[in-house]
Amino acid sequence: MRIDKWVQKFKGCGKSVARRLIASGEVRVDGVAVRDSHFEVTRFHKVEVSGEVAQSNRAYYIMLNKPAGCVSATSDTEHETVVDLINEPFSDLLHIAGRLDKESTGLMILTNDGQWSRLITEPDEKIPKTYLVTTEKPISPETVAAFAEGFYFAYEDITTLPAELEILTSSCARVVIYEGKYHQIKRMFHAVGNRITSLHREQIGSISLDENLAPSDYRYLTDEEIDFSVKS
Ligand code: URA
Repeated sequence: MRIDKWVQKFKGCGKSVARRLIASGEVRVDGVAVRDSHFEVTRFHKVEVSGEVAQSNRAYYIMLNKPAGCVSATSDTEHETVVDLINEPFSDLLHIAGRLDKESTGLMILTNDGQWSRLITEPDEKIPKTYLVTTEKPISPETVAAFAEGFYFAYEDITTLPAELEILTSSCARVVIYEGKYHQIKRMFHAVGNRITSLHREQIGSISLDENLAPSDYRYLTDEEIDFSVKS
């Protein structure tokens, strides 16, 4: 919302009073006086009007090393959730930017900034997600071409986008996908007659799982990770 409208609402005053407050430097956003009445205030700005804190919401961006066995949900009556692992007063505000199956491990991002998380999760953004997988049977060299071609998923009536598969050892590979369909990688291996025995997410966009984080540990994203997360 434009700051002049925002001040009008907060103070219950008219447009001219709001504009006067703005022009005289009485309205500060994130600690800086804003004199442009067209400035767009979001719910993540800290806004002060004449020294009074009018809005103090903050955006939180967390990287978690998801352990196997906990569910990608904000609440669950039976299982521990990824949000249960975030020991912060604001944890109830968080949502998950890209789920992992219960037995999958690795990079999980949680935030209360829906606009930002959409950049990661919207299929149109085609953000690369990198996984390390191990399989029951050896991975045949033909699997590389099959992943690049895409698989038809009848249930959703879609063909998966070209995915990259790098075979590391006979039953271990690195997979990069650009979308996030339900059980996508499991179903892709199933389609070539194989089965995943472990799946670990290493990277989303340019955000890599911090190797210092043990399973269940988390940390805040850095400003650089927040700004550059959508660039691969
Ligand atoms: N694909 C899967 O099959 N499972 C995950 O957890 C993530 C991607």
